[in-house]
Amino acid sequence: MMNNNKVEKFYFGASSSAHQAEGGQRNDWSEWEIRTATGKAHNARNRPPTGGWPAYILERHPNPLEETNYVAGRAADHWHRYEEDFDLAKELGHTAHRFSIEWSRVEPEEGRFDERALAHYRDVVRALRARGMEPFVTLWHWPLPLWLARKGGWESSAAIGAFAKYAGRVAAYLKDDVKFWIPLNEPEIYANMSYLNGTWPPQVKNPLRMLRVLSHLIRAHRAAHPVLKGINPSCRVGIAKNNIHFEAAGRNQWNELLKAVADWWWNRLPLDLTNDTLDFIGLNFYFHNRIDGWFNRNRNERINDIGWELAPESLFHALMDLKRYEKPVYVTENGLADARDLHRAEYIHEALRAVKRAVGNGVDVRGYFHWALTDNFEWADGFWPRFGLVEVDYQTLTRRPRASAQAYKNLIERWPNI
Ligand code: FCB
Repeated sequence: MMNNNKVEKFYFGASSSAHQAEGGQRNDWSEWEIRTATGKAHNARNRPPTGGWPAYILERHPNPLEETNYVAGRAADHWHRYEEDFDLAKELGHTAHRFSIEWSRVEPEEGRFDERALAHYRDVVRALRARGMEPFVTLWHWPLPLWLARKGGWESSAAIGAFAKYAGRVAAYLKDDVKFWIPLNEPEIYANMSYLNGTWPPQVKNPLRMLRVLSHLIRAHRAAHPVLKGINPSCRVGIAKNNIHFEAAGRNQWNELLKAVADWWWNRLPLDLTNDTLDFIGLNFYFHNRIDGWFNRNRNERINDIGWELAPESLFHALMDLKRYEKPVYVTENGLADARDLHRAEYIHEALRAVKRAVGNGVDVRGYFHWALTDNFEWADGFWPRFGLVEVDYQTLTRRPRASAQAYKNLIERWPNI
């Protein structure tokens, strides 16, 4: 008989991040939002997507034509409503929850750590534990404290030591309550969006600067690792890595070559460079990319509200690609913007079937976190993309679980018979 004591249970839950859900931030991102909101609303009016903005988006508030859409402000007010949100998560059958700690709250000035912010996050963690949910804690989910942004943010090598120090402070405070740490969320997405294509703050478009930022982020992860382990040797440290299922169309050697390069550069290199410090891999999965002469010739038979192809079955391939690392894998994000909740239930079902298939094929998958628990602020797009299992009315801040949240609960209860 198998020794079940050794087998960790499979966690089901949802993810969130501080800037997107809490509200009340003061960081480099919040300042940038205020500076750019008018221009973004203007662009949305003058350069709408092909076919125009659909009515089901415009009839909601905030919508892309409104300036308020682009300023996170009080967001979903999760800072004050986390207990209500966790009650919902528990009712929805979740056994774990991933969230992030906001660096700018914990260290609002260089070297000054705010006890009240730390105490708040301890309450958050304990609120999860009280409901029987395992916390998965991300230490950096993109925004930076203003003092660090002024020093050059991740372009400055000073950020590496500063991050390790911050990580140590948080870990020392929460060491009895947190087992799973994720120092960084998607360093590769951040480096690309903020330093290569210039979409996110500080809106740089420079490949060399992007590489510098990426290398500092990897060094920051590596610097945080011994700090976290030094505080609690039995904690588990991972990374949340956005991997893409690259697929070469046909039996074409050029497509195969592009796929090999893309797999190496995007999917493997950041993991190879952190591998010796990873107890587990967190996979954030959203994208399938069909290569046919060039990247991203997707068929787009089903797309979500922000135009991303829906390819939940591709999760199987992304998971199989991680088998080589021989580590536990948690799907730390996976989801879709779907304001009408038309596709979400089916998407989750297909994604979980992909997880099950990967497990059957020898990948040690141990959890699935849907993005997101509630609707929240989606970076440069703002509030209108609706990723939540739970709908948020941004006028009243009332929460209402979508039908797909119930469907997810049913799958959790039936697992692995889905
Ligand atoms: C991921 C981010 C997360 C959210 C989803 C939609 O790349 O980690 O914060 O914005 O995309």
